[in-house]
Amino acid sequence: MSNHRVLQASVLFLSLSLLSATPHQREEETTRSTPITRFQQYLRINTAHPTPDYSSAISFLQSQSHSLNLTSQILHFSPSKTKPLLLLTWPGSNPSLPSILLNSHLDSVPAEPAKWSHPPFSAHHSPSDGKIFARGAQDDKCIGLQYLEAIRILKSELGFEPIRTVHISYVPDEEIGGFDGMMAFVESKEFEDLNLGFMLDEGQASVTDEYRVFYADRSPWHVVIRAVGMPGHGSRMYDGSAMENLMKSIEVMSRFRENQLDLVKAGLAGFSDVVSVNPVYLKAGIPSSDGFVMNIQPSEAEAGFDIRFSPMTDPDLLKKKIADEWAPASRNMTFEITEKGPLRDYLGRPLMTATNDSNPWWSIFKEAVEEAGGKLSKPEILASTTDARFIRQMGIPTLGFSPMKNTPILLHDHNEFLKDTVYLEGIKVYVSIIKSLSSYEGPASVQLSYGYSLKFKSGVRRGRVGHGSLGLEQGNKFVDGIKEGSSRVGPDQVKTCETCCRREYEPDSGVY
Ligand SMILES: *[C@@H]1O[C@H](CO)[C@@H](O)[C@H](O)[C@H]1NC(C)=O
Ligand SMILES: *[C@@H]1O[C@H](CO)[C@@H](O)[C@H](O)[C@H]1NC(C)=O
Ligand SMILES: *[C@@H]1O[C@H](CO)[C@@H](O)[C@H](O)[C@H]1NC(C)=O
Ligand SMILES: [Zn+2]
Repeated sequence: MSNHRVLQASVLFLSLSLLSATPHQREEETTRSTPITRFQQYLRINTAHPTPDYSSAISFLQSQSHSLNLTSQILHFSPSKTKPLLLLTWPGSNPSLPSILLNSHLDSVPAEPAKWSHPPFSAHHSPSDGKIFARGAQDDKCIGLQYLEAIRILKSELGFEPIRTVHISYVPDEEIGGFDGMMAFVESKEFEDLNLGFMLDEGQASVTDEYRVFYADRSPWHVVIRAVGMPGHGSRMYDGSAMENLMKSIEVMSRFRENQLDLVKAGLAGFSDVVSVNPVYLKAGIPSSDGFVMNIQPSEAEAGFDIRFSPMTDPDLLKKKIADEWAPASRNMTFEITEKGPLRDYLGRPLMTATNDSNPWWSIFKEAVEEAGGKLSKPEILASTTDARFIRQMGIPTLGFSPMKNTPILLHDHNEFLKDTVYLEGIKVYVSIIKSLSSYEGPASVQLSYGYSLKFKSGVRRGRVGHGSLGLEQGNKFVDGIKEGSSRVGPDQVKTCETCCRREYEPDSGVY
């Protein structure tokens, strides 16, 4: 595709000249709409919890999408219909190919204005160093608008037309768990209809000259351990009090925590590779009018922990450790684990996206970043949790990426900012990424026809029981990587099946 390369070179040149902000341009911002003023406009909409102004954000984004001729759709998954999800679409020339999704969340965490040097929703653009201060500047309104700015360049300046359809989603409530947002969306008919092949979601800033990319999130568990024991007078020393039992557990857990932290300090593991164990509350004692009764040893005591681990950690082994060592019944202890999100995808695989040649999307993504003059550091596991976990759960390859280099990590922090030059360079990177991903025609694909003789090499497809879909989760057997027949798809399911089977499946690696 040599003509593509030529086009690419001119794109970069053009964009570079258009996108570099000089102090002079900054003065002009009041009169002219530029990528920076549009970014400021979006940042000024207060979508912080607990009262995010979703409707203003959606109106603004819709007006942007109209100017780009993207189709738009507003979806609701909360009963109150106060949590809109905006879905924009740039149709590709081959809509039968699985599509690309570019995701960002509308909401942000609250800010404490008194602790900021500029009001958090003023989007103050500092003339001396180009820093734009706002809650959401890094997390993650930057990517939400960079996607659109990149599409603007692809459409208006380059006349580019995608082969695969590109969707852009703006989801509510990511910062509070995504239950009425991405979690509900992935279970919807609208999501299934996207026929998604690959998704990009938020990542994190990088303090070096290399962009960071994330192939997995850590999974959080909220763990409560409880001890019971004989109550007694505060003057007596005896075995097996609730407090003694709990304190023994805390000692064991602290040692484990220290060992994990030592691995990080010694450079043998990253922060996201180890199991983090952090005590978050202690609860015991008998309340009195001025505090606690001081001469009674209580009969119950509990402690709460935030525990997080990577997809490399075996959750069953961790559970066993909790049961055997951290809250053993032999010490009259019980425990409760609340899993905050899925651990495995629908096929039982760990929630991570391959970052090697087995995943063609990875290679395309990486090369596209490099073609735009960027460099990626070693793929990482994100220490926290994002909506990407819901998409990975569907077996869809997903990378976390926010093109912010030479930038301090300020998400959820006071004085969150992003420099104009970094923001503009990110747009350039997305031009290259969106162009490459949407031009990918895929390896030779296998057309599935309805019914009984379905052949695809490890062509595992997500799908839902009841929709006549054809995944391993329905107990279908694969022989030598070739699947033959499906007893679940009977004549009475002809209609559903026609819809779902007409899709093209690409062989190998479960990537489509
Ligand atoms: C949107 O469509 C209008 C009318 O067809 C056209 O004039 C305009 O150039 C298009 N804009 C973009 C960004 O594609
Ligand atoms: C556990 O509780 C039982 C019944 O109250 C008691 O006999 C035993 O000593 C307790 N064991 C420990 C380790 O606290
Ligand atoms: C690619 O990475 C995946 C996940 O880390 C791994 O299971 C697989 O063996 C790797 N494949 C190749 C060809 O390196
Ligand atoms: Zn975020």
